[in-house]
Amino acid sequence: MVVDRRRSLPLHGQLVQQVKARIADRRLAPGARVPSTRDAALLLGVSRTTVTTAYEQLLSEGYLESRRGAGTFVPAHLPPVATPRAEAATAAAGLPPVRVSAFMARLGDWRPPAPAPHAVIDLSSREPDLRLFPLAEWSRLLRQQMRRRPLGRSPSHEDIGGLAPLRDAIASYLRYARGVICDPEQVMVVTGSQQALDLCARVLVNPGDCVALENPGYPEARRLFGAVGARVMPVPVDADGLRVSRLPPRARTAIVTPSHQYPLGMALSLTRRLELLQWAQSPDRLIIENDYDSEFRYDGSPLPALQGLGDTSRVVYVGTFSLSMFPALRIGYVVVPRPLVIPFLQAKWHTDRHTPHLEQGALAEFMARGHLARHIRRMRRVYRRRRDVLLDALHTHLGADVTVADTSSGLHVVVRFATGRVAEQARRCGVTLLSTAACYADPASAPAHEYLLRFSNVSERLLAEAVRRMAAAAH
Ligand SMILES: Cc1ncc(COP(=O)(O)O)c(C=O)c1O
Repeated sequence: MVVDRRRSLPLHGQLVQQVKARIADRRLAPGARVPSTRDAALLLGVSRTTVTTAYEQLLSEGYLESRRGAGTFVPAHLPPVATPRAEAATAAAGLPPVRVSAFMARLGDWRPPAPAPHAVIDLSSREPDLRLFPLAEWSRLLRQQMRRRPLGRSPSHEDIGGLAPLRDAIASYLRYARGVICDPEQVMVVTGSQQALDLCARVLVNPGDCVALENPGYPEARRLFGAVGARVMPVPVDADGLRVSRLPPRARTAIVTPSHQYPLGMALSLTRRLELLQWAQSPDRLIIENDYDSEFRYDGSPLPALQGLGDTSRVVYVGTFSLSMFPALRIGYVVVPRPLVIPFLQAKWHTDRHTPHLEQGALAEFMARGHLARHIRRMRRVYRRRRDVLLDALHTHLGADVTVADTSSGLHVVVRFATGRVAEQARRCGVTLLSTAACYADPASAPAHEYLLRFSNVSERLLAEAVRRMAAAAH
């Protein structure tokens, strides 16, 4: 064994490493005696303390044992020690590193979304325009929270559903702005609406249960509920939203986006809302209302939530601050019927205890001081102008070559181009578009050339420019 004084690893650490390597490759066999600390120090030209420190560590980890009066040995019955091997080597050997669960297998082939390439006009990002976010106020409130609750406290049962001031603020916001009927105890703060859906899947669904989802619909919901073993049944939509009469009789849960059908954009008509509530009037049926972006309605005032329209015990209402604040905040909420309060708290506790306190505290203040309402009002004006510019440009430059779905609300519009050349040209000239194919239960049957144009994070100038560039192909 040799030690190298130029290495940053201390000498005793080098000794530990080398002894372990020799035990692993059996140059030091089980039962072998290692030199005394004095001999080893002499052999290696290091101090006796260095060797003693190394031996002590190896003794405490079980690689060596000392026998009084006899010396220090490799344990006689030590099973073969694996040589630590980087994961890359395992992969190179073609071995599957770990077997995954059926949940993962059902999630299927998925990769984290690739970052958008540079120098493009990105019409695929769901990011709100963060340049217009009142960052100074937000930072001040976060710092204030840091002073008030520097390290929070260890999570207690009262915290699972969210900090009381935030639950109060959300409950009154929902009552006033969305017509939701609820008490703060029914509001649970969650880590983004994705967690709300995840908790619904855990609490409400058994493998084999039939869950109805709009088609096209939210792909994240389809994958998640499919992964827990639900049979996710596609239900068609038309200009009035979900076709309630087509709900499969076996469906127990229906996941819907009544205020702004995802992705096509229409609202669920009043008749359909009432029919859907009627459908849910059965002890084993429930509606999950995903109200993800209803703050941004441009024509007329926001439509009240389905939850407040009938028997609230049949609706789990889900919302998010991802679009009204910013997605990295990871705060959403779910309003659950009273009998589900404890099951949801239980599921949340066993999933992640609670959503981080610091941001919750800051958000509660942000809402209480009226910053959120102001920000939403401002962004509604900004986004309305962007939507108008986009629609104008589509009309002017593509005319009959594009059909535009409902555009009265939300941060995207869905378009269908008459020809594949437009998207082709978009790709060539650096405009990123998102196909709606993944929203369809069978992506292969998705309408040709249908795209989501997300306009929230693109300036008016660039929106017009993007359409001009794409349109060059159509003529
Ligand atoms: C249909 C739908 N639901 C929910 C969300 C928000 O998800 P989260 O709150 O997990 O960020 C989005 C965001 O784009 C969405 O499009």
